[in-house]
Amino acid sequence: MKSTALKDRIRKRYTAAVEAPRQSGCCTPRDGTNPLIAFHSGEDARSYNQAEVAAVGPALVETAFGCGNPVALADLQPGETVLDIGSGAGLDALLAARRVGPTGRVIGLDMTPAMIAAASAHAARAGITNVEFLLGDAEAIPLPDGSVDRVISNCVLNLAPDKARVFREISRVLKPGGRIAISDIVLLRPLPRPLRKSLALWAGCLAGALPEADYVAAAQVARLREVRVVSRIPIEDGVICDALSGGSLPRRLARLTFPLWHQWVSGRAAGIHLQAIKPAAS
Ligand SMILES: C[S@@+](CC[C@H](N)C(=O)[O-])C[C@H]1O[C@@H](n2cnc3c(N)ncnc32)[C@H](O)[C@@H]1O
Repeated sequence: MKSTALKDRIRKRYTAAVEAPRQSGCCTPRDGTNPLIAFHSGEDARSYNQAEVAAVGPALVETAFGCGNPVALADLQPGETVLDIGSGAGLDALLAARRVGPTGRVIGLDMTPAMIAAASAHAARAGITNVEFLLGDAEAIPLPDGSVDRVISNCVLNLAPDKARVFREISRVLKPGGRIAISDIVLLRPLPRPLRKSLALWAGCLAGALPEADYVAAAQVARLREVRVVSRIPIEDGVICDALSGGSLPRRLARLTFPLWHQWVSGRAAGIHLQAIKPAAS
């Protein structure tokens, strides 16, 4: 699959997603509720603390296109520099900015200009100044070697055509001893071949997903260590429905053919939450 065509399709999809969030999104079905994340009084790999989100911008809930809460897994400390890869409309970056405080700094990286604009507007509205949003590609991160303490990312690497390159870039920009916390989609069983070739399903977070073992191996090959999948959520109907309908297939066609797609996809993918470390001496 051509990488430039794929990235154009992804940009188009996420521009539409952030401009009309209740109609389309990656992990967000048409009714606007994302089955892979929750908002309540607690916080864990899957859930956001509602009060904390409300404090940075309640509207961010509608443009949360992730498949977990990597901030909850990242154990961020005051003064740290954090990179959020594929920062979207900014939810995780803004929460991270609050945690690292005024002596810390967060950089949100995204290749879709509409996402950078939305995230920057949310930051300005919330008065959060220790965050900046950079337009750029995860396969060529525009940051110096060894410049960040933490990398977080939420439902993004599955979209990248060259995941090994993204992991190499993550390893390059991390300081020795730096850590990653990622939520993403992986495959538990292979997808049928026609689905793997679909640009639309790639942009919908399914066709580009790697088998879990390959995902972990890609991180290890990039010299990340202690790579651990800390939890796993099977993909449910809403995600399948969204992958089809969020700007991928005409809505009526998606609805009509849903039982067929469901039969093909159900039980083959999962949301995972992964941690890893760049060794202090590497
Ligand atoms: C499913 S959305 C997730 C957004 C955000 N992390 C969240 O949780 O709401 C995927 C985001 O990754 C961005 N993206 C996809 N591929 C990328 C790449 N190669 N480099 C940078 N950003 C990318 C898209 O533009 C989109 O904003």
